[in-house]
Amino acid sequence: MSEPNSQPLKDDQLVQEIGTTIFEKSTQASGKSFFSKDFWYGRIMEWSMKNETFKTQMFRFVDVLPYLNSSSEVSRHLKEYFAEGDENGEGKLPSVFNFGMGLGSLAPSLMAGAIRKNVTEMARMFITGENPKEALNVIKKARKKNIAFTVDILGEATLSEKEALDYQRRYLELIDWLAKDAKNWNTIPLIDQNHEGDIPKVNVSVKLTSIYSQIKVTAWEESISVLKERMRPILQKAMQENVFINVDMEHYEVKDLTFEVFKQLLMEEEFRHYPHWGIVVQAYLRDSLDDVKGLVQFSKERGCPFTIRLVKGAYWDSETIESQQEGWPYPVYTNKQESDANYEDCAKEILTHHEHLRLSIGSHNVRSIAACLAMARKMNIPQNALEIQMLYGMADMFKSALVDMNYRVREYCPVGELIPGMAYLVRRLLENTSNESFLRSKFAEDVSISDLLKDPNQNLEKTTADITPNEFFNNLPLLDFTLVEPREKMEKALKQTQEFFSKEHLIHIDGKDYKGSETLESLNPSNKTQSVGTIHLAGEKEAEMAVVAAKRTFSTWSKTPAEERIRLVDRLADIIEARRYELMAIEVFEAGKSWVEADGDICEAVDFCRYYALQMNGLAQPQKIGWVPGEENFYTYLPRGVVAVISPWNFPLAILTGMVAASAVTGNTVVMKPAEQTSVTASWLM
Ligand code: FAD
Ligand code: 2OP
Repeated sequence: MSEPNSQPLKDDQLVQEIGTTIFEKSTQASGKSFFSKDFWYGRIMEWSMKNETFKTQMFRFVDVLPYLNSSSEVSRHLKEYFAEGDENGEGKLPSVFNFGMGLGSLAPSLMAGAIRKNVTEMARMFITGENPKEALNVIKKARKKNIAFTVDILGEATLSEKEALDYQRRYLELIDWLAKDAKNWNTIPLIDQNHEGDIPKVNVSVKLTSIYSQIKVTAWEESISVLKERMRPILQKAMQENVFINVDMEHYEVKDLTFEVFKQLLMEEEFRHYPHWGIVVQAYLRDSLDDVKGLVQFSKERGCPFTIRLVKGAYWDSETIESQQEGWPYPVYTNKQESDANYEDCAKEILTHHEHLRLSIGSHNVRSIAACLAMARKMNIPQNALEIQMLYGMADMFKSALVDMNYRVREYCPVGELIPGMAYLVRRLLENTSNESFLRSKFAEDVSISDLLKDPNQNLEKTTADITPNEFFNNLPLLDFTLVEPREKMEKALKQTQEFFSKEHLIHIDGKDYKGSETLESLNPSNKTQSVGTIHLAGEKEAEMAVVAAKRTFSTWSKTPAEERIRLVDRLADIIEARRYELMAIEVFEAGKSWVEADGDICEAVDFCRYYALQMNGLAQPQKIGWVPGEENFYTYLPRGVVAVISPWNFPLAILTGMVAASAVTGNTVVMKPAEQTSVTASWLM
């Protein structure tokens, strides 16, 4: 992992000059601002920025709105999310909702239609049109203002192959259709040429998760292979039609996979010599500078340049929350200044190798843009060898200013309907209203130009990737299969475990093993010709023997000091954790679990042991109750006797371990009867 370069950029004076020019020129530009209080959404955003709870509810509401089919449903949701006042739904909505309706505070039932209209209008600020035809009008208007475009079809993380194939088809049609229309467009040198000559007029951005619904990092090779298959026709068409294709970067989980697909495709002979491909690097990622270095190396090997769109990253909120949920290190910086500083470091690395890589500056932050432009100027890189990209509906005055300064500006133009576009819209709302947002600082908070242009390396406080542990209890983190090591260990365990499939699993009673009168083959549910092991089934006789033995040992186990029982249950957790891959592999074969599900089950087994051991610490102490003069009253938990644990197959290790650990740590003895479908897993636990 790399840390941002703490070296101050050499010529901050030049950065200040360029930044100031952008600001000066932008004041002459006109445009509708997202923060304008003349509009309903501007007011709503103002409220959101002042009130965290309202913001959360508002974005949840925006997210659910397109799915609501009737006014009564909209009204019900409005009440649930926002109504202040009584609980019978008679409460009024916050007065901000009434803005622009010329009325006093309305009841939710009267508000539904107006709100839907306003939210749709807000979404339209960021979306160029519902279909390519609508988008084309917007694109052509932008070209008249000397602004280039990249079109993206809204939609990501598709859930079915039907939908994914449909996205692929729509991309192919979009490329065809735009390229055909573009034949009639005049060449505008500022946006249609770079330092080497003509560049494609049509530029398309693709998200890999839209064109394949079954991307799994656990199925690494398979995912790469299908994604390449899906992308090939798109790339072929793009080359035929002289179209630029950019692969967008999404959440961290698919980052390395996306790079891998991109690199493998670009090395294929038919694509190797075409320069009009691009990929995205997210500077908020701690490993992004290393990724840039890797891409520099790759581009040298390939021998033909491609473009890196350098952004900070659009998934900051979800990345941080997911890390906290999973107990994984943060992949992102958690101090905004670090992302800004790293952005400049990544840009420097790309610009230093500009003969191999082209830079697209994807930012609305004037400081970040000016820093990149200043570096390029210092390195004598031609002005049109790079470009600045901004999102449709954002920072229009900066776009105009940069066009005026003769830079190539490209707008990212999403096209599509509101439902598939919802994630995109929510990302824009989060981005614009975040406390850290440059645009919010400039347009909603009037921060001074000198502060806005400050070098992010000044007084930079570096954070670490560590998450703060929970004071009470920390679950065992799941494995992060985006990393190579867990994937390789799992593959190895899957191979090794199969060596034990011929094993017979005997009945274990009182320290001895017994054969049953009947046996059962435990079959792999995903491949019923494969036996995972032979299980000896216990009958009435064996059950009786087990209960008798458990009853006899109860007298000693129940008197074993609680600390010793706690130590042993904790030790069990250690062993399960140390052998987690082996246990996961068995579950994959015996219960048909996916890797992630199997991992979840093993982690939960460990959590049960640790949690019950922790609880027993308290339960073992006599509990003091009440107070009567002259008396001291306590109650004490006592073990009850023999516990029969009869567990199901769906969480083959977790439930079994949990029930056994809880019984045993509290001083009971246990007869363990696992589900016959997953008895091999149980035998491993035994
Ligand atoms: P700023 O306000 O300077 O930066 C905001 C950004 O800082 C946040 O978005 C976040 O990345 C980061 N940040 C916020 N809080 C913190 C914190 N506490 N600690 C550390 N960092 C923080 N994004 C993608 O992920 N993938 C893409 O493929 C992609 N394509 C894009 C294409 C274009 C043309 C553009 C303009 C943007 C694209 N983006 C993409 C979105 C982009 O990531 C955001 O618009 C961008 O992060 C906003 O940064 P900024 O420099 O404009 O603004
Ligand atoms: C996003 O979809 C723009 O790719 C970026 O948020």
